[in-house]
Amino acid sequence: VTRPDLAGRHVVVSAGGTREPLDPVRFLGNRSSGKQGYALARTAAARGARVTLIAADTALPDPAGVDLVRVGTAVELREAVLGAAADADAVVMAAAVADFRPAVYATGKIKKKDGQEPEPVALVRNPDILAELSGDRPRAGQVIVGFAAETDDVLANGRAKLKRKGCDLLVVNEVGERKTFGADESEAVVLGADGSETPVAHGPKEVLAETVWDLVAERLG
Ligand code: C5P
Repeated sequence: VTRPDLAGRHVVVSAGGTREPLDPVRFLGNRSSGKQGYALARTAAARGARVTLIAADTALPDPAGVDLVRVGTAVELREAVLGAAADADAVVMAAAVADFRPAVYATGKIKKKDGQEPEPVALVRNPDILAELSGDRPRAGQVIVGFAAETDDVLANGRAKLKRKGCDLLVVNEVGERKTFGADESEAVVLGADGSETPVAHGPKEVLAETVWDLVAERLG
């Protein structure tokens, strides 16, 4: 049952994986498909929200009824998210943001040289958008949601990450070889800063998205 419980609300959702360029033809990327973020955007729109979807790399078709902003790198994603968050009631960071980017961008294609070993790739940290947003709320009462992919000690690591990031809700996915990334289904626990723990059984990413919006709507009052 879809209720318009997000009518009059503006929500920002980030999706997909950032691409961090090494040169004009190469980048460091990740396996995020964007499916969870797109499911979040679609379900929020169906519940009446105005949705800004900030999409890093994904092969998915543009969803109808949302404002779509395309970005490439984590730095571009940060600009877009912080800009859109200024008047948002909720921000959900479903994007897989690269923790590091190449320290140097080569303006020309990096070439192999005969008889020479390749240069090592030096990396620098990217800004942590979720932590920044959570620590410096652009709007009182705003609900901020993060995602975490963990391979072991899922709950303990999730709790620690929730604290570290300072967000209100953290969706913790257990990831493995064939789990979650690129799949149409997932299984998660949504941890709340208030100590709540909401398990979401294995199922379509839409079901997890609806649960996230239930918890967000509860907190928006
Ligand atoms: O630290 P970790 O990458 O595990 O955190 C995942 C969560 O933090 C996701 O919600 C992701 O969108 C967000 N994140 C971010 N900026 C980064 C790294 C992750 O906003 N640089």
